[in-house]
Amino acid sequence: MRNRPRRLRTTQAIRDLVCETRLTTQDLIAPFFVRDLDDQGGSYPIESMPGVLQYSPERVVAEVSALVARGVQAVILFGVASKKDDEGSEAWDSSGALQRSVTAIKDELGDSVYVISDLCVDEYTSHGHCGVLDDRGHVDNDATLEIYQKVALSHAQAGVDMVAPSGMMDGQVRAIRDALDGELRHDVSIMAYSAKFASAMYGPFREALGVNITGGPTDRKTYQMDPGNGREAIREVLGDLKQGADVVMVKPAGYYLDVISTVARSVSAPVCAYQVSGEYSMIRAAAERGWVDCDQLALESALSIKRAGASMIITYFAGDLARVLN
Ligand code: PBG
Repeated sequence: MRNRPRRLRTTQAIRDLVCETRLTTQDLIAPFFVRDLDDQGGSYPIESMPGVLQYSPERVVAEVSALVARGVQAVILFGVASKKDDEGSEAWDSSGALQRSVTAIKDELGDSVYVISDLCVDEYTSHGHCGVLDDRGHVDNDATLEIYQKVALSHAQAGVDMVAPSGMMDGQVRAIRDALDGELRHDVSIMAYSAKFASAMYGPFREALGVNITGGPTDRKTYQMDPGNGREAIREVLGDLKQGADVVMVKPAGYYLDVISTVARSVSAPVCAYQVSGEYSMIRAAAERGWVDCDQLALESALSIKRAGASMIITYFAGDLARVLN
């Protein structure tokens, strides 16, 4: 037998030499949920996502700082509302938990951390949709764009490095780019949640944020993509790049590796992949039962996302991975 692939697997040294994909802490973006909390400890566990906590704007600075010390240089922040209304007005409140967290983190850590903000309103609307509703209870695309512009400016004012619109409204990237440029904030980047699928994988996240979709349709199928549509992802990505997106995203990640791969080969813009709450909690739950090794599976899942073509990965395992990789 001449062809013996096992020859290149005999020792760690040769395995390292032929290794095709390496995961590092620099590939990772850590999500943080921020919220005004009565409890002075400044943290609140999320039942559906074991090991993930919500933090107060005061406390989150120390948590981010600890992660940066372990080599993770980027975070994405999600604001949790203290009050909800039809428009989600807390989303653009300059004294909201998200805005204060951004400012506190940048004041303390400066450019040693890249701060991204999730830009949407579903965490803040009483009906739980990612936009405002019209008279008939449908999500009103263009009225929502004006709201996103206000939210973007409030995040920019707070000092964010990059905004990440996740609402899947048509034209959202252009609307946000226009609003930022109108205030001469060319420095703020945009990561578009371009190919975001209407997935059942967001369950634990919605649980975490207390998002209940009640108004109009009780799902997001009129704005998020059909899970079977791979080609349509390219249409979304190209549209977002034309509108001014700096980075495009595929979400969820693990069940959509083919989409990540196709997008990465189709465009030259960096591709981010979001390993979402359901992907995280499934691994955690199985590990709690002793059925899988959490660290090893977290590593393997992230590695497979990178192998597919993602140049950055949003994952709730960021802290665990930093520990394993160091
Ligand atoms: C919506 C948003 C969602 C997530 C990020 N931004 C949920 C949704 O679309 O319902 C999900 C993230 C996750 O599940 O980890 N603003």
